[in-house]
Amino acid sequence: MNILVMAGGSGSRLWPSSRGLFPKQFLSIAGENTMLQATLARVEGLSNSTSVICNEEHRFVVAQQAQEFGAELTSIILEPVGRNTAPAIALAAFDALDSCDGAAPLLLVMAADHVIEDVAAFHAAVAVAKAQAEAGKVVTFGIVPESAHTGYGYIQRGSESGSGAYAVSRFVEKPDASTAQSYLDDGGYYWNSGMFLFAADVYLNELKTFRPDIYAACEKAYLGKNRDVDFLRVDADAFKACPDESIDYAVMEKTDKAVVVPLSAGWSDVGAWSSLWEIGEQDASGNVISGDVLSHNTSNSYIRAEHRLVATVGLDNIVVVETNDAILVAAKDQVQDVKKIVESLKAQG
Ligand code: GDD
Ligand code: MG
Repeated sequence: MNILVMAGGSGSRLWPSSRGLFPKQFLSIAGENTMLQATLARVEGLSNSTSVICNEEHRFVVAQQAQEFGAELTSIILEPVGRNTAPAIALAAFDALDSCDGAAPLLLVMAADHVIEDVAAFHAAVAVAKAQAEAGKVVTFGIVPESAHTGYGYIQRGSESGSGAYAVSRFVEKPDASTAQSYLDDGGYYWNSGMFLFAADVYLNELKTFRPDIYAACEKAYLGKNRDVDFLRVDADAFKACPDESIDYAVMEKTDKAVVVPLSAGWSDVGAWSSLWEIGEQDASGNVISGDVLSHNTSNSYIRAEHRLVATVGLDNIVVVETNDAILVAAKDQVQDVKKIVESLKAQG
């Protein structure tokens, strides 16, 4: 089994800590390790081949963080531009097939920006998933949903497909709020965790069936590759011409080979600052504090001081994030919209 860590996201909802040059997967946001290093730690012992796929401009950050952690990467696949996860995984699948002699290897696809508290439970779920992937299934890991979150894929559980795994009756990526609520009320749905396990050739065949345009662009980009020590560069023009699409829309919503393995391991995708409040250690007033913070009559808040002393008085349900050049103050239930600030900053140039 080969492991692929996807580290090409922008993490804009964690502004101002997460920036274009240093998105959240490269930050120590939830613990001492960076999120990328925590991902490498999470897969230790599962495989002797781990690759990372990221944007060209992050190649040294990835190489350095892997080295500091003590992980030897098989390759660092570089994308000249981000084209989302369906093409990124396709490049890695072509590479896995190219580098193997014998049966097509399995690919465990990990996101570089998740938190998983119970690694043993995760490894147990991977073992269940592996048996399914060996039987030609496209496996996803399902999380029992806690709210009608519209930023996730929803998986309707079908009949049992071997012990600990279920057929996927339906996969719906990012439904609107009322649809998500109806899934929650129904009870038979999981959130898609965004981690997958399948044989490299099975993924490529499904992609070729449902999105021949993405398949062809990635095949061309991969054929034009060159290797420079650990770095694998693909043909830039061919990859730029590839449509931008996630695996969720391109394959998961369409394939009839999907299987879900439920995962109960303290998973969080740390999508926004409120997730850090949820997974953090709350004090007696329900605050999660990081750095040099003094607070009085403050409750249920997330306060992060990276460079200066931050003092708060009389706040409830607030997020405060201080960095050396920007400060965010937001209502905790509206932090999803921090990306709107990032959009306006981009528009201002
Ligand atoms: N290399 C590379 N290139 N990585 C990418 C790219 C890309 O173009 N785009 C995204 N990634 C990485 C991100 O860094 C992240 O680790 C992972 O792929 C998923 O991308 P997101 O952009 O964070 O996806 P999402 O959160 O909107 O949705 C996905 O994850 C949810 C769970 O967190 C979907 O799979 C949903 O269905 C799922 O519920
Ligand atoms: Mg995400």
